[in-house]
Formats: sequence, structure tokens, C-alpha cells
Amino acid sequence: MSETPLVLVSNRGPATFERDESGELVASRGGGGLVTALTGLVNHRDALWVASCMTPEDAEAAAEHGGRAFGCNVDGTTYRIRLVESDPVAYDQFYNVVANPMLWFIQHYLWDLSNAPDIRSNEVEAYELGYKAVNDDLANAVIDEIEGDDAVVMLHDYHLYLAPRTIRAHRPDVFLHHFIHIPWTQPDAWRVLPRGMRQDLFEGILSNDIVSFHTRAYRRNFLLCCRELLDLEVDEQAGIVRFDGREVWVRAYPLPISAESFERSAKRATVAEHEAEILQRRREHLIVRVDRADLSKNILRGFTAFDLFLSQHPEFLERVTFIAHLVPSRQDVPEYQEYLERIEALVAVVNHRHGSTDWMPIQLKLRENLDEAIAEYKHYDLLIVNAMFDGMNLVAKEGPLVNERDGVSLLSENTGAHEELGEFALSVNPFDIQEQADAMFRALTMEPEERRRRAAGLKKIVTARDPGDWVDDQLADIERKRATLEPA
Ligand code: G6P
Repeated sequence: MSETPLVLVSNRGPATFERDESGELVASRGGGGLVTALTGLVNHRDALWVASCMTPEDAEAAAEHGGRAFGCNVDGTTYRIRLVESDPVAYDQFYNVVANPMLWFIQHYLWDLSNAPDIRSNEVEAYELGYKAVNDDLANAVIDEIEGDDAVVMLHDYHLYLAPRTIRAHRPDVFLHHFIHIPWTQPDAWRVLPRGMRQDLFEGILSNDIVSFHTRAYRRNFLLCCRELLDLEVDEQAGIVRFDGREVWVRAYPLPISAESFERSAKRATVAEHEAEILQRRREHLIVRVDRADLSKNILRGFTAFDLFLSQHPEFLERVTFIAHLVPSRQDVPEYQEYLERIEALVAVVNHRHGSTDWMPIQLKLRENLDEAIAEYKHYDLLIVNAMFDGMNLVAKEGPLVNERDGVSLLSENTGAHEELGEFALSVNPFDIQEQADAMFRALTMEPEERRRRAAGLKKIVTARDPGDWVDDQLADIERKRATLEPA
């Protein structure tokens, strides 16, 4: 197995390119949880990573290497990548119409169904001409790169549901593994899609040998969808779907973080600079949230709960600050633009209602800065992770790992991380604003002994496994499944 050529495929790659002042193309790290997860994998195993060009500079970098794979060093990790350029119109349809919002919203129960989505020719065309085309572009690059007949292709996420079918059609000998990092919703959520499109997507996914999720709940939902939406034969206990004369295994592997490398990052001098500023400004209590500015993260209800908490507990006025560190995301999708505007407007209302000349209750930071986020993690008293639905949520793991104040975690019961961490967090229903306000009060008045016990419990779970274990578990199942495919 260690010799098996491994090909990773995802829309966003580990490196994104920019031109520096001298006009040179320089690589920086691609953002988001998926890149973090797969970097753990690359550190563990030699692999080629195939990804989309997401900017014109990415396309220039790809062209400099004749469209072939090349080596590239980012933040101390060396990647071998192949960046695939798609037609810009097709890519826009793929990313901004189908993947986000359509699939992302279905998989986080975000559609407000009495208003949206309307499926018209625009959406159907985006699927036929955009989503399919980009999936084919990536699949063709994979087919081109596969060496030998024992390759394992590991595809990632909701952008690539159709690529496995194209790869299988050309290379039936190759092992296809697909990890879906976001929730899998219950069958009715999928009924939003026209039947043909739905069927097509599931056929694409079921072209894999193994389909994986972060939690048992998503695995169960997927199996249920196969039975109810496609009328397939499903063995729920064993996690097997029979499709097209093959067995597809459906598995759950919760993603750990790399405690070792994250703790190393927390010691950086650049983190210390941010810490100094936070310590200088901090009041008696500090609440922190760090998220992409995504609708699924439930940022507005978090502020509303804080607003309610301050109204019900005026003794905390001037004694607590809430740092909301939000990374703007997917700004070409109107729903995301509007969400950011609503965030800014609500912060202004809450700050106006409770703030004073020298105290701003919510400090909104709209930027991507990992060092600053780590500095915030180290000093919070309460971490807010109140997502409506979230595949895993790595913030819920990174925060407790490096926090130095026995900080408490407020954690939504609808995050993947809750399956592991729920016992030591303050679990909340993300829609229940009073419950979240109460949890804020409880956290900030909790006895030191209980805080210590909970913080230690979280840290123990977070450090128990690392991404190497996660990869090993998947590779072991790949081995097992392969053994069932080999002729006796
Ligand atoms: C989050 C999800 C990942 C997903 C990524 C896409 O990080 O957890 O599963 O792949 O978003 O984000 P992007 O910024 O590439 O649209």
C-alpha cells in the first residue's frame, strides 16, 4: 500500500498564487478546513494533488508549467500539484451557482423554501454546462496523471460529485474514494433538485468504491437517501449500497487536527504580537468566535444572543468584549454579500444599544489572519461555535487545544465536532437564542474547577488522534475493500 500512487482531487488546492512587487508569482496557502485536513495527509504520505485554478494567477502558474504537475513549497510543506484551468464562464456557473449556493445550501438546510431556490433554465444550464464541465476537466487531469494500475484516487467534497463517474468510465481499474466534508442532509432536503439532476449526482457519487463522512449521522443520512430517493438496496448496519453491480462502502472518519503543528504555530512571534494587542484591550471577560462569514455559521443569532445576555445581565456591561473574527467568503454569491451586510448592520445595532464612549461590546474583524485568530484562541474565556449545521468545525478543536485560560466552549449540537466534544462543551440548540444567552452567562460565571475539568476534557479528546490516524483508517479500509475486488 505504501507504494500505491495516491492522487488527491479537490476544487481548492493547497496553494494559491499572487504576483509580488517584482512581478514574480508567489504561492500562499489556500484557505479553509479542507486544505488543513489534506495537508495533514500530504505530510503523512507522498501524493499528487489535482485542483482547480481559482484565480487568473493560478492559471498563469499552471501555464508556466505547461499545465503539468509541479512542486511547490508553502508554509514548510512541499506539495506536488497540478492546477486545472476551466473555461471562466463554466467555472463561474460551477462555483457560484451550483456548488455554492445550490449544493451547499441543500447540505446545510439553508434554503428558505417558500422563497428559494427557483430552478430555472439558468440553474439547469449552470449544472449542464458548468458543474459537469469543471468536473470533467478535473477528472481528465486525473486520468492523465494516473500511473500504473493500482492507483488510489481520493476525491474531496461537494464540488466533485460527477468526477468519479468520468474517471471510472476511463479507468475502471482505479480505486475511487470520496470524502464529503460537509453534512449529508436527510432525503427531503434533496427533493429541491429536479429528479434528473438528483439522479445524476447520486450516480456520480456512487461511482466511488468508498464514500466517507465526518460523522455517523451523515453516513446514516446518505444511506437513507440511497434507499428513499434511488430505491437502491442498502445494508445500513454494514454501510453498504449496491449500485450498478458493485458494492459501495459508506464510512465515517472524524477528522482530527494536528495538535503538534498547531501548537508550534501558536508559538510564532507573529502570534505573540497579536496577543500583546489583545491583552492590552481585553476586559475582564473575552468571548471569541472565528469563522468564515458563511450563513451556516449562524453568526447573526450569536450576536442576538449576546445582545440578550447583556440586556438580562447588565452587571456584565463594560466587563466583557466579544471578538468576532470573520473571514469574508464567496462574495460573488449574492446570498453571501447580503449576509455580510446584515452582520455589519447587527453589530452596529448591538454596539449602539449597549456600548459606551470607551467600550465597544462587539469588535468585528473582517479579515483572514490565522496568526491573529490563534492569538484570540489563546485568550478567550468563552469560544462560540453555534453553527446551524457544520460538517465538522475545526475551530471547535483548535481553540481548546491552545487556549490558556480554561476557556469554555459553547458548541452547537449540529456540528460534526459535537459527536466527539459535546460532553465537555456547553451544548446549545443553535436556533434557541435564550439558551445561547444562558450558556454565555453560565460560562462567564462558572467555577474555576468546572472550567478546568471541561477544558482538560476537550484538550484530551483533541490531542488523542492526529490526521495521520485519520488517513491510516481510510487507507486500511481501502486495502480491505480492494481485497474484496481482487479475483480469487
Ligand atoms: C469549508 C468546508 C469545506 C469546503 C470549503 C470550500 O471549509 O468545510 O468542506 O470544501 O468550505 O470553501 P471555498 O472557500 O473553497 O468555497
